[in-house]
Amino acid sequence: MTGLCTGRVVAVTGAGRGLGRAHALAFAAEGAKVVVNDLGVGLDGTGGTAGPAQQTVDEIRESGGDAVAHTGDITTADGAASLVRTALDTYGRLDTLVNNAGFLRDRMLVNLDEDDWDAVLRVHLKGHFLPLKHAAAHWRAEAKAGRTPEARVINTSSGAGLLGSVGQGNYSAAKAGIVALTLVAAAELRRYGVRVNAIAPAARTRMTERTFADTMTAPDDGDFDAMAPENVSPLVVWLGSAASAGVTGRVFEAEGGRITVMEGWRPGPTADKGARWSPAEAGETALKLLAEAEPPRPVYGA
Ligand SMILES: NC(=O)c1ccc[n+]([C@@H]2O[C@H](COP(=O)([O-])OP(=O)(O)OC[C@H]3O[C@@H](n4cnc5c(N)ncnc54)[C@H](O)[C@@H]3O)[C@@H](O)[C@H]2O)c1
Repeated sequence: MTGLCTGRVVAVTGAGRGLGRAHALAFAAEGAKVVVNDLGVGLDGTGGTAGPAQQTVDEIRESGGDAVAHTGDITTADGAASLVRTALDTYGRLDTLVNNAGFLRDRMLVNLDEDDWDAVLRVHLKGHFLPLKHAAAHWRAEAKAGRTPEARVINTSSGAGLLGSVGQGNYSAAKAGIVALTLVAAAELRRYGVRVNAIAPAARTRMTERTFADTMTAPDDGDFDAMAPENVSPLVVWLGSAASAGVTGRVFEAEGGRITVMEGWRPGPTADKGARWSPAEAGETALKLLAEAEPPRPVYGA
């Protein structure tokens, strides 16, 4: 098989189902060897089975590709380290890491248990940090040994992390944290040949098919199935290839046939007194600046 990722080894977390599965298949179709990670947990993160990871591996092999399953928990140091080790032991290299695994525990803030906060922050934010850290340590060692890699990391944020989403305070905070982590990783790792970007996808998976049933349904008339997870993967594959060398620290929305570059926080109207404001003056100034500023985009579900 030859393609955009021939010769590359790609690890995708949460690749047993949904978007991660689509990414893994798309990378394999472009010639990559794939480490398919999935803990096989339920929608709320409970339980666990090796089935989903192995299913994606079987699908890749049936289409003539090369893949290996990894069923470790990427929110633990052991799981994240063994993900990287599986790539190195099986294929002798790691070129691209796609951080994608996650689950939801949606509640309004007043009903959000501490456990639901911790579990969702852990799977998304820590579940991005740990594989990134272990992969980056490998790539830094490679660079220091004179073998600077063409390494790529694609992180998975969400519209909830960019704009906020009612009933998803834990998830929105984790996904916003992933954007900040992406910016820092891009800046720190550039010198080692690593490019780090993030996507905010939207697609029909078990995570969304019930909550957003009206917008997620597949057309039955053969029209373009915009919400198929496979539509998000081409951008992820390109970002995970050597071709994206000039791109780092950026966030893209990807949904259906649309790709959007997100333009993040930047200073708006400003005032500087050159001395300390009184609270009343500060308030008056804040209101004046707000009147000049772009109105904020609405929070999802508000
Ligand atoms: N579907 C969407 O529209 C949408 C929108 C925005 C963001 N996202 C994000 O995309 C990513 C993929 O979501 P999806 O919609 O494909 O959901 P999904 O539930 O279909 O897939 C997520 C997979 O992650 C696995 N997983 C969970 N915890 C894990 C762990 N600790 N270690 C290893 N694997 C683990 C699950 O077993 C599951 O197979 C998530 O980060 C999600 O937040 C999805």
